[in-house]
Amino acid sequence: MNIRYPVSRNFLALTIIAMAAGLMALPVLAATPSETVQLRQETMKKLGKHMNAIKDFAMNGQGSAADVANRAGEIGKIAAGIPAMFPEGTGMDEVKDPKNGAKPEIWLDWDNFLKAAAKLEVESKALEAAGNGGDQEVIKAAFQNLGKNGCGNCHKPYRIKLEK
Ligand code: HEC
Repeated sequence: MNIRYPVSRNFLALTIIAMAAGLMALPVLAATPSETVQLRQETMKKLGKHMNAIKDFAMNGQGSAADVANRAGEIGKIAAGIPAMFPEGTGMDEVKDPKNGAKPEIWLDWDNFLKAAAKLEVESKALEAAGNGGDQEVIKAAFQNLGKNGCGNCHKPYRIKLEK
């Protein structure tokens, strides 16, 4: 009887490890390469929408600091899932429909790509904290930082901007 408890605890621990290792992304990996590209482009567009809304507050005071904090939290969640959206075989030379701008350097330089995704997560936490603080100038600085060191830091080496 007593044995069951440690076994189920082990199972739970394994599940948590598997989730932390990114195996939560199995649905993405199970998709076709085209579907994966489509999904990640939609997800990137969501990042763009969050950034536009945050910019409205940072630059013009439109919206609210609380909304900035919420959106920064969403950006952080998406950032954690970025590596799983880029399985091997989904680069711009491999998937043409839909056309995509993921450079082969992503997979040649995978560790650095992971760092770029992690950097966005860190910057999103700083922006979330700034949003919670409510000071527009602090939010503006964190927003600009995130754009440059979060999004731009990855786009520059790893993305070709597509004509759409
Ligand atoms: C770790 C790397 C990385 C980070 C961080 C990142 N991106 Fe991207 N992004 C890419 C890559 C690679 C592509 C090209 C993907 C493709 O075309 O399949 C892309 C594409 C895009 C696109 C175009 C999507 C489309 O419809 O083709 C937008 C918009 C975008 N990113 C916005 C953002 C914003 C905003 C941020 C920051 C909040 C961000 N990205 C952070 C790597 C990143």
